[in-house]
Amino acid sequence: MNTAFQNKHVVVTGASSGIGFDAVSRFLAEGAKVTACYNSAPRELTTLKDSYPERLNVVKVDVRNESEVALLFTEANTVFGRVDITVANAGIAFHEGVAVHEMSIEQWQKTLSVNLTGVFLCAKHFFANLKKYPGDDASLVFVGSTAGEIGQALFCDYSTSKAGLRGLLMTLKNEIIHLAVRGRVNLVNPGWTITPMTEGELSDKAMVSRIMQTIPLRKVATPSDITHAILYLSSDKLAGHVSGQTITVAGGMEGRVLFSSDEVEEYMQ
Ligand SMILES: NC(=O)c1ccc[n+]([C@@H]2O[C@H](COP(=O)([O-])OP(=O)(O)OC[C@H]3O[C@@H](n4cnc5c(N)ncnc54)[C@H](OP(=O)(O)O)[C@@H]3O)[C@@H](O)[C@H]2O)c1
Repeated sequence: MNTAFQNKHVVVTGASSGIGFDAVSRFLAEGAKVTACYNSAPRELTTLKDSYPERLNVVKVDVRNESEVALLFTEANTVFGRVDITVANAGIAFHEGVAVHEMSIEQWQKTLSVNLTGVFLCAKHFFANLKKYPGDDASLVFVGSTAGEIGQALFCDYSTSKAGLRGLLMTLKNEIIHLAVRGRVNLVNPGWTITPMTEGELSDKAMVSRIMQTIPLRKVATPSDITHAILYLSSDKLAGHVSGQTITVAGGMEGRVLFSSDEVEEYMQ
């Protein structure tokens, strides 16, 4: 299938691991020029750079920091010109669940600052780049979560940050067309996916069993399950008339197991 990514310039945040790293590898394999952003360490991006010295630029960015995000796009423009596609993928999740009445304001603000404000900043400076470099096509893809659709008890910070992306999605799809007439904004919502973010939880067999009970396809996703949807939505050739849409990649999951059979026993009629 022709994704038509040759000569396209893609920015991917959170690119040093998991879904972001897989996305960078696939965009490069499809011929794109990629600005890959890392936060704490570039990890395997350094090796990937050896394979694609002409088409991969690796940049350190904390998406919470507006001046760093602005600089990212300035540097990206200098190295590869107009940014045509941005994948706002960077995200965090606290590993221990905390009930809302015990959640610290620091936890709430930290999660929101990366997962929602960070996405806003990337969208803002991506759009500013579109204004500076006129062109018809542009694509912005957010990486959300099923937690933003169906909630996740004990993770209200995370679920709220991801639900907020829908507001950005439905608004920015109507703004981008004033900067790029065929510009599009879409959202990919992964369910449980094996990455460094979840390797702790997914190494617990009992936890995986509970998760599997909610997934018709009875599989935890791999990063490539998610990046196939990201690449589809990023491609003007494949998804050129798709905007304001959410693709959920979660094996059909639509709810969560809340109780074990022991916990419901006493309520049985
Ligand atoms: N794995 C899942 O089951 C799952 C499910 C639903 C949604 N998601 C979403 O998918 C996206 C990718 O996550 P993943 O599963 O691939 O996890 P991951 O491997 O932990 O990747 C997250 C990336 O975000 C980066 N990041 C964190 N804080 C940042 C900051 N302040 N500025 C810039 N980058 C930052 C991390 O870099 P450092 O490590 O260097 O900080 C890391 O590269 C996230 O938005 C996540 O919420 C994942």
